[in-house]
Amino acid sequence: MRTVKTAIRSAVFPVAGRGTRFLPATKASPKEMLPVVDKPLIQYAVEEALAAGARRLVFVTGASKRAIEDHFDSDQELESMLQRQGKSDLLNQLRSVLPSYASCIYIRQPAPLGLGHAVLCAQPAVGAEPFFVHLADDLIRSEVACLGQMAEVYEAKRASVLGVEVVPHRDTDKYGIVEVEGERGAIGRVCSIVEKPKSAVAPSNLAVVGRYVLAPAIFEHLQRIGRGAGGEIQLTDGIASLMREEAVYAYRFQGKRYDCGSKLGYLQATVEYALGHEQLGRDFRRYLRTLDVARAAARPTRTGRGRRARGK
Ligand code: G1P
Repeated sequence: MRTVKTAIRSAVFPVAGRGTRFLPATKASPKEMLPVVDKPLIQYAVEEALAAGARRLVFVTGASKRAIEDHFDSDQELESMLQRQGKSDLLNQLRSVLPSYASCIYIRQPAPLGLGHAVLCAQPAVGAEPFFVHLADDLIRSEVACLGQMAEVYEAKRASVLGVEVVPHRDTDKYGIVEVEGERGAIGRVCSIVEKPKSAVAPSNLAVVGRYVLAPAIFEHLQRIGRGAGGEIQLTDGIASLMREEAVYAYRFQGKRYDCGSKLGYLQATVEYALGHEQLGRDFRRYLRTLDVARAAARPTRTGRGRRARGK
């Protein structure tokens, strides 16, 4: 993933949700720690934010999230053991989990009051600067870090930017949906945004994925708005309120998104990241050939489509 130089320093990772769709895997371990091949989702998230210039990593956590703190902390005991065993490759991998120039801040979200509330909890750490919000279960594979692409749009427009992509009409009720005007290339000005509308009333099928560059004014709006859909303080409502005072842009990012909040999306990510893996890719491809994938795919399955819900 190519690095982009930007002036945005803080990245907020709302990680308080319980990940009920992955139970029992997520009973004692955070869903953000689910590995895709050999790295947990939250590490992909941090790598993307660092590649976009972030240096201050703000995790908004909840119950049972200690493993995330441990993951980004140094582990002297493990490091000495690997050193004694001469496993220098593993040691280097472990040490590169978090570069020394980055700092982690953990803020506890006192109750599951929604994504907007989680972002508001990060205000004391972020201050009065623009910042990234990254939802780790939307994994995006791209040449240039998705947040980096968006930061460049922010620099050009000096206004908040939402990462968007076209989704099937039947899926509008799983996302924040935007309507844009004056679209030029990948960028358009958002003229309306609504949280999880049914397809019959959705203004479009352009969905907000878990990537945002937000102006600090969002905090005032999040403080002001009440509870919205599902009785939660919705980030989408905060953005709708912000839009009444300043411009917000939608950006169709370059890259492929995997919805790792759903089992199917998570499996797709696992297969595709494994196929692209430097050490594993060739053997994994060979292994897949030994399965009669085409015939297996033709067999009817009984898997249903799950609804998305973060932190419920
Ligand atoms: C959240 C947001 C939604 C956005 C989605 C992206 O929903 O509320 O607007 O489209 O993330 O993944 P959640 O998936 O937490 O229900």
